[in-house]
Parts: sequence; structure tokens; C-alpha cells
Amino acid sequence: MKLTTDSSIHVATEIPGPVSKLLQQRRESSVPRGVASVLPVYVRSANGVTIEDVDGNRFLDFAGGIGCQNAGHCSPEVVEAIREQAQQLIHSCFMVTPYEKYVRLAEELNRRAPGGFPKKTFFVNSGAEAVENAVKIARHYTRRQAVIAFDDAFHGRTQMALSLTGKSKPYKSGFGPFASEVYRMPFAYCYRCPYRLTYPACGVECARAIEDVFKRQVEAESVAAVIVEPILGEGGFVAPPKEWFDIISGVCRRHGILIIADEIQTGFCRTGPMYACERFGLEPDLVLSAKSIAGGLPLAAVTGRAEIMDSPGPGGLGGTFGGNPVACAAALEVLNAVDSHGLSERSAQIGRLFISITRDWKDRFPLVGDIRGFGAMQAIELVRDRVTKEPAESETREILAACHRRGLLMISAGTFGNVIRLLVPLVATDNQIEEGLRVLERALVEAQAGACAA
Ligand SMILES: Cc1ncc(COP(=O)(O)O)c(C=O)c1O
Repeated sequence: MKLTTDSSIHVATEIPGPVSKLLQQRRESSVPRGVASVLPVYVRSANGVTIEDVDGNRFLDFAGGIGCQNAGHCSPEVVEAIREQAQQLIHSCFMVTPYEKYVRLAEELNRRAPGGFPKKTFFVNSGAEAVENAVKIARHYTRRQAVIAFDDAFHGRTQMALSLTGKSKPYKSGFGPFASEVYRMPFAYCYRCPYRLTYPACGVECARAIEDVFKRQVEAESVAAVIVEPILGEGGFVAPPKEWFDIISGVCRRHGILIIADEIQTGFCRTGPMYACERFGLEPDLVLSAKSIAGGLPLAAVTGRAEIMDSPGPGGLGGTFGGNPVACAAALEVLNAVDSHGLSERSAQIGRLFISITRDWKDRFPLVGDIRGFGAMQAIELVRDRVTKEPAESETREILAACHRRGLLMISAGTFGNVIRLLVPLVATDNQIEEGLRVLERALVEAQAGACAA
């Protein structure tokens, strides 16, 4: 491809290059295939919005380690905080001998999480672990067992999180039996309305389906919590209308059911505000953070109403590594970046730029069925036919492969694998956004030409 002098992309070899290919052979005999391999180029280093591989290729990274690099790869401030902390204390276990940064980070998240009520936070190591703990806490506080989750939801791969996840292949298939007392209802996926209705004439029927769950699946008095991603992540970047949350939260309040907002992918300014809940005026009882919280170090948080969080007794919550000092130091620096680099506003700007660049794509490419999102959480859903909305799964794979060959790393989402999602680090410049989207555009042009010729 044509490179201008200020190109972020530099493709020096075929993709993957020879060194990556050798490493992939080693991987195949040493790592189980169940650990997916989206783009087998082996990374040597990363910086801001770019990653360099072992063959000397430089990629624009619009995937950010699946949404973990909102503050940019290897931000100098985060790296320095990690280095400084590692020289002082790497681990003592907060449950044994605590340290100040854990407490400070908890205070920060309590202050920033949605809801003007007293909150408490504790830390674990992964998004799935945060989900597991949120359900434990909700059950303990309400003394109820049932949890309602949504179609197309993704909450992680551990047993409870997987039970809450709403996609069979590849996540759940063969891994049962799943945890009991999990009930499910449709999400507000307007582009593929489960009731074949159209918003707003639909009257947000899908939210009212919660009453149906109470009638047909489990009585409201047994439900501890509803767990919801404010915008589906793996499910395809699907955002419900605002009234949907008003209805769901109204019903939950009436029945004493807690709301757990899984903001693992949507949080840390991905959609603009610090938490996507703010977009919908939703004040969840518990909110989960992970992914971008610590610049790529493994850390996750459960934040919630203080009286709920204090329900389990000493020893009921925690873990050996949760809230590790190095991860906490990194997270405090990420929060500094949120403020000092104005990541919330930058996310909104990236969203506007994305919309302006892709504005005519629906007219030009019949494959493009829907373009949607908030802030820098944007997606394009590809279909073979605009009327039947047949998912263009293989076309999506081909388009992403073409992007990869040209030095743009993007990944898919969606229950049908036909959604291209943007999870670019929020430190991307306008030029970098434009450069990446032009690569995607070219791949769409070629795929469209192939589709027309077929
Ligand atoms: C919304 C959501 N919840 C939970 C998880 C699980 O997080 P982890 O992979 O850190 O366990 C993910 C990961 O993609 C996610 O997007």
C-alpha cells in the first residue's frame, strides 16, 4: 500500500512474516488450540496505537488487546509508575499486609463510578473474576439465588461467567453443565429485533419481557440480580434505547433486584464518559471494571453500594493477587491519563471522526448493514442481503484478513461473527484514525467487488 512519510503502518514482509511463522509452529505444538489465534504475528513491542512485530512490520492497532489499551500501549507515565512500584513492592497480598495504592485506587473508583451514594471497591485479576464476585455479593446481600442475563451477552470464561454468557460456539459448547439459577431474556438488539418490531413503535417490548421471565422462568422474589453490559461488547456493540434501561431498572427497583453493570469493555471512556452507564442515566448497584483499567496489567474491580459490598464477612472476598501493587500503581496512572489527556473528550472526538469518515459507506457498500456506536466504541455490521440481514460472516473474516495483510489490526464481534469493531487506543491521532479507516475502506471496496462478481 502507498505509505506517506507520516504513516503509522509499515509493512515490510508478507503477513505473517517468516519469524512469526516459525514462532507459530512452536506455539502450535506447545499451546492448546482452544486459545484463539486471531492474527499470528508475534509482537516485539508496542507504543501508543502501534505494535511492531518480530519481522519488523508496524501495525496500527485498532483492537487494543481487546479494549485494554484505552490509555495507549506502554504509555511512558504508566511504564514509569510500574517501574517505580516494582522497585518498592511487587506483592505482599493485600489481605495480609495492605498498602496505600490499593486504598487510593478504591477511593478513586468509588468517586468516579456512577451513582451519588457511598460506595466500596475491591480488586481481582480478570473480568471474569469480577463477574463471579459480583454475583456472589448480590446473592449474599439479597439472600436470593437467581440471576438474569441477556442473549448475546459475554461475561467471561470461568464457570459462573460462562453460564451468564449468551453465545454457544465457541464459548459454551462442550463445557457444560453450567451454573444453575441463571435465566435469560433477549437484549435490545434493534437491528435484529427479536420480536421483529421497529423502534420506537415497538414500545420497547424487549424490556417488558422481564415480566415474562418472572411468569415463565423464575419468580421476581427469587432474583438476586440482573447483569447487563450497557452496550454489548463481544455481542456486537449493540446499544439499547435509553428507555430500555429505565424500564429494566424500574422493574428491578420494584422487586428489590440488584443491577450489575458489566462495564469491562465499555468502561474507562470507551464510549465517551468514564462509564457507559452515564449515557443512559443508569445507576447500577454494582459496576465492574477491567480491561483498560491498568494499561494492560491484569486487574479488575467490583465497585458498588457500600452496604451491599459490606454484606459478605471478612474472608468472603479477596484472592492472593487481587489488587497487586504494581497493577494498582499502573491503574492510578491510567486514571491520571484519563484526566490529563482528556480521554473522555478524545473518545467522543474519535467517534465523530469515525462517523464522518464512514458516513457514505452504507450507500457505497451493500455489505454494510448497520453502522453504530458511541464515542470510540463503533462497529460495522456486515450482511449479504439488507432485507434478510443474512450475516456476512466469511466476508467479515476476509475483510479483516485483508486489513491485517495491510498493517491494520481490527477484530470482529457479534453472535454471527459479522461485526467489525473499533477498540482503538484513545490516544490515536486523527491521522491514525483516518489511515486505519482508509485501509478498512479499501478492504470493503475489494470485498464488495468480489461479492458483486460472485
Ligand atoms: C463485557 C465483558 N465482560 C467480561 C469479560 C471477561 O473479561 P476477562 O477476559 O478479563 O476475564 C469480557 C472480556 O472480553 C467482556 O468484554
